[in-house]
Amino acid sequence: MARDPRYDVLFEPVAIGPVVARNRFYQVPHCNGMGHRDPSALAAMRAVKAEGGWAVVSTEEVEIHPSSELTPYVEGRLWDDADIPAHALVVEGIHRHGALAAIELVHSGMSAPNYHTRIPPMGPGHRALTRGSDAPIQARAMTAGDIADLRTWHRAAVTRSLEAGYDIVYVYAGHSLTTLQHFLSPRHNRRTDAYGGSLENRARLLREVLEDTIEVVDGRAAVACRLAVDELVGSEGYGRADIEELLGMIGELPDLWDFMVGEWDDDSVTSRFGAEAGQEGHVLGLKRLTTKPVVGVGRFTSPDTMARMVRQGVLDFIGAARPSIADPFLPTKIEEGRIDEIRECIGCNICVSGDFTSSPIRCTQNPAMGEEWRRGWHPERYSASRRPARVLVVGGGPAGLEAAMVAAKRGHEVSLVEATRQLGGRVARESRLPGLAEWIRVRDYRVGQLDGLSNTSSYLESTLDADDILGYGFEHVAVATGATWRGDGVGRWHTRPISLDRALPVLTPDDVLAGARPEGQSIVIFDDDHYYLGGVLAELLVGEGFAVALVTPMTDVSTWTHNTMEQHRIQARLLELGIAIRTSEVVVRGTADGLVVANTYTGREAPLGCDAAVFVTSRRPEEQLALDLAERSGEWADAGLLSMRTVGDAHAPGTIASAVWDGRRFAEDLESGSEWALFRRDGVLTAIDPPQPRPDPGDRPPTP
Ligand SMILES: Cc1cc2nc3c(=O)[nH]c(=O)nc-3n(C[C@H](O)[C@H](O)[C@H](O)COP(=O)(O)O)c2cc1C
Ligand code: SF4
Repeated sequence: MARDPRYDVLFEPVAIGPVVARNRFYQVPHCNGMGHRDPSALAAMRAVKAEGGWAVVSTEEVEIHPSSELTPYVEGRLWDDADIPAHALVVEGIHRHGALAAIELVHSGMSAPNYHTRIPPMGPGHRALTRGSDAPIQARAMTAGDIADLRTWHRAAVTRSLEAGYDIVYVYAGHSLTTLQHFLSPRHNRRTDAYGGSLENRARLLREVLEDTIEVVDGRAAVACRLAVDELVGSEGYGRADIEELLGMIGELPDLWDFMVGEWDDDSVTSRFGAEAGQEGHVLGLKRLTTKPVVGVGRFTSPDTMARMVRQGVLDFIGAARPSIADPFLPTKIEEGRIDEIRECIGCNICVSGDFTSSPIRCTQNPAMGEEWRRGWHPERYSASRRPARVLVVGGGPAGLEAAMVAAKRGHEVSLVEATRQLGGRVARESRLPGLAEWIRVRDYRVGQLDGLSNTSSYLESTLDADDILGYGFEHVAVATGATWRGDGVGRWHTRPISLDRALPVLTPDDVLAGARPEGQSIVIFDDDHYYLGGVLAELLVGEGFAVALVTPMTDVSTWTHNTMEQHRIQARLLELGIAIRTSEVVVRGTADGLVVANTYTGREAPLGCDAAVFVTSRRPEEQLALDLAERSGEWADAGLLSMRTVGDAHAPGTIASAVWDGRRFAEDLESGSEWALFRRDGVLTAIDPPQPRPDPGDRPPTP
C-alpha cells in the first residue's frame, strides 16, 4: 500500500547538528526495568524499535556515577569503562537498522537515595530527597568541589558514550529527577553562591554541562537537551516566562531540544486522565525561540495529529515513548499506508509498572515488549509453525483474541468461538467505564487483524461443550473463557466467605458492568483488589446519583496504581466527587441494614449503613470446560486432540496485559507442548568461577 501524501511531512529527513535523522519519528528516552541488569534483552528491544522505522532510538536514563544511582529501579549505567560493552551492544542493534542511537545521561542527585552504593546523595542544598522517594535520607549541599566533580563525571560519561558509538548525547534536566533541573528550580535551589538566586545563576550548571558536552563530543555526535518546560507547581517552581528567558540564554547551545512538562506522572499521564497531544499548549511557541529542532511528546498515535504538529510548527520531531512501546513498527506502518494495522497505545501505563516493580517492561498492547531476546518474540513477525494444526480458541476476550491471532499468523487453522454477541470480553465491558474508552483498542487491533486472515473463522453466540470439542477433531484447544468476580468477600483479606444477610443486595463488578443497579441510594464498595476497578466503579456509580463509600484495607485507594503513576489522581478524583473514602477498614459481615466494617489495625468494629454493597475482591477462573476436557483425557487420542490449556484469566485472573501475554504464549508454545520452556537470561554464571564439585564424603581427609 502507498503512503498517504498527507503524511509525507513525517518522512522528511532532519539534521540534528552533525547527524541526520532519516525521518521525524523519535523514540524519546524510556526506562524498561531491564537496564544494566539485562543488557542483551535491552539491546534486542531497542533494535526492534530501529527496525520498526524510528529515526532516533534513545536509551533510558543512564546513571553516570555511583554518587547517584536509582536502586531498586534498574536503569542504564555508565559508571566506568566496564559498562561500555553493554552500551555498544545497544548501539550496534540500533545502527543495524539504520537509526541514530541517543543516550540520556543522568545525575539524579536529590532524587536518588543511593540504596546500592550508600553514598549520601547530593543536590543544591541540605534538603530532604524529592517527593518520589520516601527514604529516610537527606541530600547534602554540593560544594564548589562537588560541582566540579559532577562536571568531570559528566564529561567522562560523554567520552564513554562516544566510545560506545552513540550519535546523540543527552544533557537531562527533566521530570524533576536530575541535579541539573534541581539547580534550575527555585523550589529546590536556595543557594546564595554563583549557582543560586537569579535564573542565570540557577541555569549556570546546566549551561556549563551543556558546554562541556559540546566540547567533548567535538562534532562527533549531536548534543540534545531534555528540559521540563514547566514544573507545574505554580510560583514555587519555574514556568513559561522563565523558560522563555532561559531559551534566550542557551537556546542555541544544544543541537536539539527535547521538551516535556512537569514530573514523570504529568508527562506520562494515563488515558484516564489525559488525552493525546496533552502537552501541546505548553510547548506551543517555544520552537520560535530557537533555530534548533524540537522534539515533544503527547502519546501520539494518530498520524493526522503528528502531521499537524509538524505543519503547524509546534514540533520538528514526533517524540514517543508509549506509542513506540505499544507499536515499535508505527513509523513503518504509516510509511506503508497500513494505518489500520497500528497497535495503538491505550494509555494504561502497565509499561511503567515494569520500572516500579524492577521487572522487565511489559505492555498491554504489545506482548512481545521485553520478550524480544529472552523468548525470541517479535512484535510483527511470527515463526511459521512446523506442523500447522486445527486450533480451537474458546472465548473472544483479550487472551482468546491474541491466542487466535498469533496461532493463525503462525499458519494454524483457527476457529474462535465466543458465547456472547461481541468480541472483546472484559475489554469490551470495561472500556465503557469512565475514562477507559481507549482500552477498546486491545480488541479493535486484534479483531482487525483476524478479519484480514483467511485461515480463521469466528463464531459469535456459540458455546461448545467437551462432547462438541472432542467430536470436531481439533488438535489444540485454548480455553480462554475469562473469570467471574466473587460475591462472597473472599480476596486478600478474607480467605473464607463472610456472613451476609439476604436482605442486603450484594453486587459484583460483573453485575454492575451488565447494568444491574440496586434499589436505594447508598452503596458501599469493598475494594480488596486494589487496582483500578474499585475506584472506577465508585466513579461510575456516583456519576449515576448514588451516594458511594469505598472501603479498603489499604491506606489509600486503588493502591496498585502507584505503579501506573495514577494513584494520586484517582484519590483526588474520588474525593472531588464526594466519595467517602474509608481506608484501613474491611467489611466483616453484612446485616439487613448494611455492613459492619472493622479497622485493620485495632479490629474495632463499626456499623456502616447502606442500601447495597459491591464487592471487588477476587475472581474465579471460568474453567469448567477445561476441567471437563481434562476429565476425558483418555478420549483425546481417538479424537485427535494433542493439547488443551486454559489461557488468560481462565488460567489465573490478572491484568489485561497478562491475559494478552498468555494468549501469545499459548500460540507460541503450541508445538513444544510445554509452557515451561525456560527463557534466556542475561549474565547467568558467565562472570563467576564455575562451582567446584562437592567432595565425596569418602574422600575427606580424616578429621583430627
Ligand atoms: C515506561 C516509561 C519509562 C520512561 N522512562 C524515562 C526515562 O528514563 N527518561 C526520560 O527522560 N523519560 C522517561 N519517560 C518519559 C517519556 O520519555 C515520555 O516523555 C513520556 O512517556 C511522554 O511520552 P509518550 O506520551 O509518548 O509516552 C518514560 C516513559 C515511560 C512510559
Ligand atoms: S502498557 Fe499501556 S500505556 Fe504502556 S505502551 Fe502499552 S498500551 Fe501504552
